Amino acid sequence: MIYFFCMRVNKYLALCGLGSRRHVESLIIAGRVKLNGQIITNLATTIPTDATVTVNGRPVTPPTDKVYILLNKPDGVVSTTYDPQGRRTVLDVLRDNPKQYQKLLQTVRLYPVGRLDYHTTGLLLLTNDGDLTKKLTHPSTHVDKVYLATVDRPVTKQELDTLSRGVSIDGVMTAPALFEYVKHDRTHIQVTIHEGRNRQVRKMFATQDLNVVTLTRVQEGKLRLGNLALGDWQFVRKSQII
Ligand code: URA
Repeated sequence: MIYFFCMRVNKYLALCGLGSRRHVESLIIAGRVKLNGQIITNLATTIPTDATVTVNGRPVTPPTDKVYILLNKPDGVVSTTYDPQGRRTVLDVLRDNPKQYQKLLQTVRLYPVGRLDYHTTGLLLLTNDGDLTKKLTHPSTHVDKVYLATVDRPVTKQELDTLSRGVSIDGVMTAPALFEYVKHDRTHIQVTIHEGRNRQVRKMFATQDLNVVTLTRVQEGKLRLGNLALGDWQFVRKSQII
C-alpha cells in the first residue's frame, strides 16, 4: 500500500517541533536542511514517507504518538490530505471544526484510512498509525463496512439477492455481501461489504441499472458513526475500531 503524502518541508519541520513556519523556512533558505543527504533550499520541496531529513546534520522525525480520529465526512470533500485541483480535503474539514484543535493537527501527520468518494458522506477514520491502516485496508482482514444508500427507483427483492450473492464489476466478482431494505419505499438500502474496491457500492448498484443518489458510510469494523453531525469529528481509541 502506498500512501500519497504531499507534505511540504516547512510543515514537516514544524511537525518535528523546530519552531514556527517562518523560522523553519529561514533554516531551509540557509541551506541547513538536507533531504536524503542533499541540501534543499526550495520551500516547495515535498517530503516522501520514508525520507531522512536532517537539520544541522541531525536527523529529525515527527512525534510518533498514535492518534485516531472519527470524522463525519461531508459531501464535496476529497478523502486525501492534499488535492492538486485545490478542492477541500478532509484535513481542511478537521482544521475548521473545531478551531481549538488546530494546534494538535499541526503536530501529527494524519491521513485517511481508505477513501470515500467526493460525494459520499459519513464515517472516515484518520490516523497516523500505519500498522492499523494496513490492517484495516488489507483485503484479507475482512472488516465489515456498512453503508446507507438511497437509489433512484425501488429495488426488487430479486435485485437485492443478486447484489448480495455478488456481481461482476470491472470484470471481477464481488464477495458475498448483504443488501437489505431500510424503509418500505424500497429505495433506502443498507449495504454491508467487507471489500474496499473503488466506488464499489455505486458500481454494484449500476449493474442493476440503479443510480446511487446518496451514500453514507455508517460503520467500519466496530466503529459506528452514531449521531456525529456532518463535518464534526472526535477522538476515538484503537480498541473502539478493531
Ligand atoms: N462505495 C462507493 O461506491 N463509494 C464510496 O465512497 C464507498 C464505497
